[in-house]
Amino acid sequence: MTEHRSPGAGARKRAWLATLALMPAMLQCAASAQNAPEAVAVPLPPMGWSSWNSFSNTVDSAVIESQAKAMVATGMKKAGYRYINIDEGWWLGKRDAQGNIVVDPKAWPAIAPRERDGDMANIVRYIHGLGLKAGIYTDAGADGCGTFSPDLGPGYPHEGSEGHYEQDFLQFARWGFDYVKVDWCGGAKEKLDPAVQYAEIARAIARAAEATGHRLYFSICNWGVNSPWTWAPGIGGAPADIWRVSGDIVAPIVANTKNADRKASFDGMLKNFDQGIHPQAQHTGFYNDPDMMVLGMPGLDDAQNRVHMSLWAMSGAPLIVGADLAKLGDATLVTLTNAEVISVDQDALGLQAVKVAEPAAGLEVWSKILSRPGERAVLLLNRTGSAASITVRWGQLGLDGSAAAHATNLWSGKDLGELKDSFTATVPATGAVMLRVHGSETRPVAYKPSGTASPGEMKRVARFTSVASRFHYAPIQIVYRNPDKTIRWAELRVNGQTATRIAFPPTGNGGGAVWIQALFDRDGPNNMLEFSPAESPAPEIQSIAVE
Ligand code: GLA
Repeated sequence: MTEHRSPGAGARKRAWLATLALMPAMLQCAASAQNAPEAVAVPLPPMGWSSWNSFSNTVDSAVIESQAKAMVATGMKKAGYRYINIDEGWWLGKRDAQGNIVVDPKAWPAIAPRERDGDMANIVRYIHGLGLKAGIYTDAGADGCGTFSPDLGPGYPHEGSEGHYEQDFLQFARWGFDYVKVDWCGGAKEKLDPAVQYAEIARAIARAAEATGHRLYFSICNWGVNSPWTWAPGIGGAPADIWRVSGDIVAPIVANTKNADRKASFDGMLKNFDQGIHPQAQHTGFYNDPDMMVLGMPGLDDAQNRVHMSLWAMSGAPLIVGADLAKLGDATLVTLTNAEVISVDQDALGLQAVKVAEPAAGLEVWSKILSRPGERAVLLLNRTGSAASITVRWGQLGLDGSAAAHATNLWSGKDLGELKDSFTATVPATGAVMLRVHGSETRPVAYKPSGTASPGEMKRVARFTSVASRFHYAPIQIVYRNPDKTIRWAELRVNGQTATRIAFPPTGNGGGAVWIQALFDRDGPNNMLEFSPAESPAPEIQSIAVE
């Protein structure tokens, strides 16, 4: 993969800095023997709303205005939700003689007197005026998804951005959008290579950012085709992105049914969660996307909505709501705005939960490493049809199993106190118990590279041999230096498996650290980790610390 480093560099830096969140103390703790790493910026998973699940091709200016207003009025904005994303259906697929997108002036009229009908900048200004951010949608192929839903009738959009990447992404940025979701219906039909197309789009986005000073957050939507978790993180040098890992949770629209009749299923939601677990790819701003949430839509009850929210937070998934915000019930709103659960999703390490125990079929213990040393989010998940008791042991979380830990129930807010080595709960059928556990971190083992490339050498950056791991997914802190103003990239291969692309943000002249969870294909003392440059120049990898 090549990167157009110079055209997008300034815009990339601005976007990266704009989403500042400081990497907390944990980064300093494990590497005490090395230079203390500096704080590193981490873009957190996006939070917002999307039009598709509830409005599909009926989306227009009135819908978006009412949803944006509802995001503020319901307190969702206060809870951290920001994006109002316009999905497919906003554009009829018409272009003018120069290939520019022609917007339907009736669907997108002027909102203030001085504006003109048919200009998407109007709705963006409206959204921004409420202190929110605006998202837009297109397809990577020549056709859009509407092509494949002829039952939806005339006027349904039927074109994508292929052949117009430069023009369309520049247009989106000029209109002032902050976010773009790029679908794959046309790409799939033409049998295009998603890694190639999305890299091209990422470069078009970078050039549009350079021209306008306005960076579009990149949401890749190719439903997991060709394993995007292996190529999507940072594709084309993007400073942050998300990639869909599976199909839609809600069933496709059936002809002649109303959007409001679309039903979400609990099993469908669980399936998307499972398909979205690729912890080795998720780090520092790059997130697996198990799809927009169906929380609050018909089909799930309150308890199941809480399980859904818990799972997305554990996953560190984008929290993009698909329900009609103007119709959310009180219980749904309480679930969507639980600050403790949101903080698990938005944790600065950006890691994904890992299943650490399955004491019986359908009874599972999930653990997510949080940024405060010794802290984990834990989910006791019961997928079965009857209530069951589930136990989590501190040792399973990578904590010191012989020391006590403090636990809090995140949904009830109940302080469970200091607990000796485990916690057991009776979990209702298809229910979950979500905890924050604070215990004693076990001491990580630090490794120095056994071979380091000379500056400029592109064959290898650093190799670590005889690395021991007790876990299938082992958390690894990578201590490095990147004196550039932009991200440097490297690929990590564990025991020669498929490489994972990792972003190394600028550190200034000091050091920094990123956390990833390496996928070990075998337990034991003899693993090999090899970092190779994804581009030139590569980051200087100084050491790793393995839990
Ligand atoms: C695909 C995507 C959905 C939605 C629709 C629009 O199915 O996965 O999220 O954008 O297209 O047609």
